[in-house]
Amino acid sequence: MTALLRTDAVSKSFGGVQALDGATIEVEEGSIAGLIGPNGSGKTTLFNVITGYETVDGGDVYLGDQRITNAAPDKVFSAGIGRTFQLTRVFSRLTVMENMIVAAQHAERGQGRLRNPLARAGGPATRRRATELLEFTGIVGHAGALAETLSYGQRKLLELSYVLMAEPAIVLLDEPAGGVNLTLISTIADRIRELNQRGTTFLIVEHNMDFVMGLCDQVTVLDYGTAVVSGPPDVIRTDPRVLDAYLGTAEDDDDIAVG
Ligand SMILES: Nc1ncnc2c1ncn2[C@@H]1O[C@H](COP(=O)(O)OP(=O)(O)O)[C@@H](O)[C@H]1O
Ligand SMILES: [Mg+2]
Repeated sequence: MTALLRTDAVSKSFGGVQALDGATIEVEEGSIAGLIGPNGSGKTTLFNVITGYETVDGGDVYLGDQRITNAAPDKVFSAGIGRTFQLTRVFSRLTVMENMIVAAQHAERGQGRLRNPLARAGGPATRRRATELLEFTGIVGHAGALAETLSYGQRKLLELSYVLMAEPAIVLLDEPAGGVNLTLISTIADRIRELNQRGTTFLIVEHNMDFVMGLCDQVTVLDYGTAVVSGPPDVIRTDPRVLDAYLGTAEDDDDIAVG
């Protein structure tokens, strides 16, 4: 097994809160990996430390053989790790196409060798590629519309399109199905599958268990900032530690169902 992405005993605390406590996970190249766990178990924080939005207190992050611990977000993005946010981050006052042009600039910026990003990134090749990606995600009809006019699900598709402009080796999705209607959820799942068949690796945080179990090859469970178990969906579904992790927080967490 080749791990494309690996965290080795990563720790992170905020004041008195130990958000990550020696979290070790591996994502195999070519796989669709899932990361699940109760609210507050550290899933978003793990994404943040992998993608450079937070620094680690201890431990390391590797992309293939490359140690990328505490690399800045731009570097991580152009090194091949794309990520979307639990609450979408698109440029709402820019059009969908303009968002895609920013994505192209963003992808090249981290490489630090761009003389005139606006001229290059906004060129015909970039627009062609952006149009292809927007066709792929099904929102090309909105290319000229301000991003703020998109539905929440469409914004998630724009975020995915944005990330794909960088041709990432791996894409981290933080709750791609959260707050999205059923039709768009199945569109998102189909697109993930197609991208995966063409070679993109995924790591997906999601509470929708049908989505996770239907899509992922391997699922890791995070509890109190530690990866407690990892395995194929069928095994994870019935693992007592998984049930413990969820049942242990059942009182303050009503949006999770395992099954
Ligand atoms: N920037 C922050 N400042 C303070 N506490 C934080 C911050 N980010 C996360 N936390 C805390 O870290 C823990 C893990 O949060 P998070 O990674 O968002 O969990 P999850 O995504 O699994 O719901 C929670 O207790 C959360 O309140
Ligand atoms: Mg989260």
